[in-house]
Amino acid sequence: MDVMEAIVGRRQIKQFKPDPIDMDQLKSWLEAASYAPNHRMNQPWQILVIGEETRAKLNHKANFGDAPVVLAFVCEPGKTPVDRDENLVAVAAFIQNFCLAAHAAGAGTRWTSIGSTENGHEVLGLGEGYEAYVLGVGYPHEVPAPKHHTPIEEKMKHLP
Ligand SMILES: Cc1cc2nc3c(=O)[nH]c(=O)nc-3n(C[C@H](O)[C@H](O)[C@H](O)COP(=O)(O)O)c2cc1C
Repeated sequence: MDVMEAIVGRRQIKQFKPDPIDMDQLKSWLEAASYAPNHRMNQPWQILVIGEETRAKLNHKANFGDAPVVLAFVCEPGKTPVDRDENLVAVAAFIQNFCLAAHAAGAGTRWTSIGSTENGHEVLGLGEGYEAYVLGVGYPHEVPAPKHHTPIEEKMKHLP
């Protein structure tokens, strides 16, 4: 799969098959994700592999679409508000890389905001200033059709 195909074809997956994900393969997607751009090579990400007990405590209504693997992508705090924003941007790039690597291998991801909740922070044991995004990972039951996208020209502005 070429990079354009991967970017355009990746979707938010609602429901996963029970088939397990091979840990070495998962690690290879994380390794690829770590080539994401980040300021001063600070690599502000950490990955939590969520076990059953923690997963139950996260209490996600849809149980992450029954994904066989649930990961939290943790963003380290910055010393300044600018560092913090830059760290979040770098972690977003990391997560997108991961989602694309998984998609290119026939797997899929379900991005949730549960890590940003009070419960999420507590259950994941996040320290002051840390943020986390929690994703289900697995083989999709089905890949949904793309949603409507605003024509990109409407988002573009030409400056003199
Ligand atoms: C920061 C962030 C938080 C998200 N949180 C949720 C969420 O809580 N629940 C959910 O269903 N999707 C969540 N999503 C995924 C979006 O719903 C999804 O990417 C969007 O609808 C576009 O669909 P697509 O990814 O299939 O193109 C989140 C995405 C991002 C970037």
